[in-house]
Amino acid sequence: MEIKITDIHASKDKGDTRVLGFYQDPVEPEYGYGDPETENIVKVLIQTGDFKGTIGEVFSLTVFRKGFLEKVVLVGLGKKELIDFSTIRRTVNCAVKEAVRIKAKTLEMSPLGARTGLREGDVIRLITEISLLSVYSFDTYKTEKKDVALKKIHILSREPNSQEAVEGYYEGMVLGTATVQARDLVNEPANVLDPIELARRVVELGKQSGFDVEVMHQEQIEKLGMKAFLEVARASDIPPRLIVMRYNGTGISGGDITALVGKGLTYDTGGLSIKTNEGMDTMKRDMGGAASVIGAISAVARLKLKVHVVGVIAACENMVSGRSYRPGDIIGSMAGKSIHVGNTDAEGRLTLIDSIHYALEIEKADRIIDLATLTGDATRTMGHTADVVLSNDDELVAELEKASEFSGERVFRMPIYDEHRELVLSDQADLTNAPVKAKTIAAGAFIREFVQGKPWLHIDIAPTAWANENTGYRSKGGTGTEVRNIYYLLKSLYGSTVKVPAGADTERQEDKGV
Ligand code: BES
Ligand code: ZN
Ligand code: ZN
Repeated sequence: MEIKITDIHASKDKGDTRVLGFYQDPVEPEYGYGDPETENIVKVLIQTGDFKGTIGEVFSLTVFRKGFLEKVVLVGLGKKELIDFSTIRRTVNCAVKEAVRIKAKTLEMSPLGARTGLREGDVIRLITEISLLSVYSFDTYKTEKKDVALKKIHILSREPNSQEAVEGYYEGMVLGTATVQARDLVNEPANVLDPIELARRVVELGKQSGFDVEVMHQEQIEKLGMKAFLEVARASDIPPRLIVMRYNGTGISGGDITALVGKGLTYDTGGLSIKTNEGMDTMKRDMGGAASVIGAISAVARLKLKVHVVGVIAACENMVSGRSYRPGDIIGSMAGKSIHVGNTDAEGRLTLIDSIHYALEIEKADRIIDLATLTGDATRTMGHTADVVLSNDDELVAELEKASEFSGERVFRMPIYDEHRELVLSDQADLTNAPVKAKTIAAGAFIREFVQGKPWLHIDIAPTAWANENTGYRSKGGTGTEVRNIYYLLKSLYGSTVKVPAGADTERQEDKGV
């Protein structure tokens, strides 16, 4: 789909379908009716109470104007004084979905809500980003693709070339695209996206987006001493890969480095502590953390943020074979701590702690953010409403919560008390990977043992990384969760701004095929 900012004064036809936003109580259009034909009809709809302007409410009609039939989608913005970013996300999603339903081809839309105090640049960003996410579906393997008529969206602006409009547009385009990339990675089945293929795709993306990628194989991983990671990987016939992404936006070496560590289990059978069929059948999703890291770094690199990040993914499969690690085994780790394996299905933390130790020791990271589909309990607790955050740093959590307002991706912090630490101590080894209770928190307590006191955020994305249904702009299957949150977090941590490349127009062309 192509999205453009179009000068409101340009006389040529901008589309076959218009979106008109309406406030509620009283019901009135934010940018006027546009023409008397539409005004006449809509006023009747308002009088009869058929359209009330509540958030996300939609009503489509066709008007006869200047000899042509034109479609109009009315969308409710709710009460004027309550309009915020989340209102815009919802209304844009509802309007775009309605446009798809009525087979609109080209949509024109004013910056919804920008007359109520929101910056036009922010609204343009949200429209761009949410439109891309709203039309997404994963149909790589369908021989007959679903044909979506909607090909183009014009965002109307009085100042289409202003810095805020262009920046908002470009940022929205890149963030929408990066989230779609993360969705695609999660949705690829595990027979296609194994550790080798995941590494190959990251290399490819690094070339496109402008970050460096190093891929390490079995022998190098052994040399590094990543013993816990290798135990998880050993049952599979497909070898593991350690994928390291580097992006240094300041162009200088040294400085403050943030490590993004993503859980990269391309499939999780549970190992010998095997999952049920029901528990296993969507476990291609277990590299969702890796996908979020890849998406976030891709966005950061394309928007040339002045940040310094390293991404680390220990990619492998947790399989069952004669070489499987067993419940009861005592294994090593890169950090030198011994671990009692209480459950081979608690494999994610074993790959994460070696990745974190690698990030600290070899990449010299100053802070750690790990993202992982780590515990089923996180979803049991939160449903699909928010990710769980565990941390040793209040300021970092506050920054993430701030980012969350820009992204609309909710996070909820849980505590780690001393009693939780006791749950991961073992009488046979230094630690055990299988706590008996408080599993989401204990997973964090386990990981914390390896962060060397550095500022650290652990985000358990099990609640939101996967959707069983299309809900709003969160597509069924992989959702690309946390890509935007992490992007905004990094942007604010380093106080960076976006850099729009000189040929932003060429960039728009390139983005067409999303
Ligand atoms: N990948 C799973 C967690 C998961 C389950 C993510 C469902 C998304 C949906 C993880 O490896 C796992 O199995 N964790 C165990 C840990 C337990 C054995 C301590 C869990 O949550 O049951
Ligand atoms: Zn598992
Ligand atoms: Zn897992």
